[in-house]
Amino acid sequence: MEIIISSTYEEMSKAAAKAVAELLNSKPNAVLGLPTGSTPIGVYKELARMHKSEGLDFSRVTTFNLDEYVGLKKDHPQSYHYFMHENLFKHINIPKQNVYIPSGTTDNYAAFCQWYERRIKECGGIDMQLLGIGSDGHIGFNEPSSSLGSRTRIKTLARPTIEDNARFFEKIEDVPIYAITMGVGTIFEARKIVFLANGANKADAVAKAIEGPVTSMITASALQLHPDVTAYLDRAAAGKLTMIDYYEWVQAKGPGAPKQ
Ligand code: GLP
Repeated sequence: MEIIISSTYEEMSKAAAKAVAELLNSKPNAVLGLPTGSTPIGVYKELARMHKSEGLDFSRVTTFNLDEYVGLKKDHPQSYHYFMHENLFKHINIPKQNVYIPSGTTDNYAAFCQWYERRIKECGGIDMQLLGIGSDGHIGFNEPSSSLGSRTRIKTLARPTIEDNARFFEKIEDVPIYAITMGVGTIFEARKIVFLANGANKADAVAKAIEGPVTSMITASALQLHPDVTAYLDRAAAGKLTMIDYYEWVQAKGPGAPKQ
């Protein structure tokens, strides 16, 4: 895993956005996997800026979002549909029909999940999957104990996740307890993974994900088995990594390393 540590959230967001832009410049019809949460907002802001001032083109891009709350309509202010529209899609030139987000209101979840998996394959698979991490180490809504081979399905949220996400709702009872999420196995099939984390409250989960054993109790730890992951961290989120000196040494020496 390549680990890039930035001194600020802005710097981290710009570095990750640059990786997305490089992909889109070399493959204008790339398929992106996208997360929600506060972590990727800086990346989305930077992508919107690049679209506006540098002409970064999304007209042939396809996106698949990781997850959605069960029971929230698309126009609910806390739905991930709404979040994506407000934070990214309304600022770029992506055609509406190229945007896929799991439905939180289908009347047949099993069929929807199968269709979602099939659409990802029909679109050629995900070229780059962006990911945040929950404080309990989850990716998407793959809570601790999720199968590392899991596919898109309904998950019951764990208590720490409900508590973390309560800040966006009026009261904790309003937080949905079910979500539809891509599985760890689905995420794992992306060709490249961009893993993002900022803030001291993520330091424990980040250390377990990157340096701990691979375990379904920290579903992000499955990323250790993926051949192409870059982790973009700010200094606070990197604060509990035991090998931080090494990662910074590699980062500093990187540009001078022999070409492979
Ligand atoms: C939710 C989302 C995850 C996200 C996590 C962390 O659980 N399903 O995809 O990574 O929140 O969110 P935040 O970035 O706000 O800390």
